[in-house]
Amino acid sequence: MAGRDISKEDALSRLDHKHACHILLYADSNAKLFGKIPIKHIVLMQMRFDGLLGFPGGLVKPSEESLEAGLSRELQEELGAAVPVTMDDYVSSHLAQSPPRLILHFYSKKITEAELLEIERAAVSNAVDHGLEVLGLTRVPLYTLRNGGGLPWFLSHSFISNSRAQLLEALQRLDLVSPQTLKEAVKKAEEMRH
Ligand code: GTP
Ligand code: MN
Ligand code: MN
Ligand code: MN
Ligand code: MN
Ligand code: MN
Repeated sequence: MAGRDISKEDALSRLDHKHACHILLYADSNAKLFGKIPIKHIVLMQMRFDGLLGFPGGLVKPSEESLEAGLSRELQEELGAAVPVTMDDYVSSHLAQSPPRLILHFYSKKITEAELLEIERAAVSNAVDHGLEVLGLTRVPLYTLRNGGGLPWFLSHSFISNSRAQLLEALQRLDLVSPQTLKEAVKKAEEMRH
């Protein structure tokens, strides 16, 4: 989905725009799938009420709260856990192509595997939005199996707004998937979508 990236400063000067903040939470892991395929990293996304994949987060009101405080509030609602987000976790701001006058701020934050597990538990047992705005958290498969399973199939699903681009950009920038694996997964996903 098109649209364009803008600076945080430019974004915050647009008082007539709506602002939304979402976050990619991730952790390192030593777990192995089938006892042999290293998981390496865990990345969290969610199945939204509309059937699209996206990141936890939501609309914030810059006139009443900082972006980071607003995002933390949304995370409390959607994950049922306190996840303190700071300005250091900020990644980018994007002017959405549609709807008009919507700015999408993106964050990423590394946590421990134990903290991530606790968030997954809280998302079911404590989040007020569970089963409503959020149908469930999901981990992103970062490996590619010989038959194309894993990241390629995941990328072939449908994503909200530019969250798929946010995911791909973050996987590269944070070095969670090798450039070669990522490139091949994107290509395989395109073939699967056709
Ligand atoms: P309400 O509490 O019902 O208002 O929802 P919310 O505050 O949780 O808002 P939501 O998370 O749906 O985000 C607001 C808008 O941002 C959505 O309508 C989408 O256009 C967009 N959006 C949602 N999730 C993502 C995401 O992961 N990435 C990006 N880039 N945009 C998203
Ligand atoms: Mn939301
Ligand atoms: Mn919400
Ligand atoms: Mn909201
Ligand atoms: Mn809500
Ligand atoms: Mn790595």
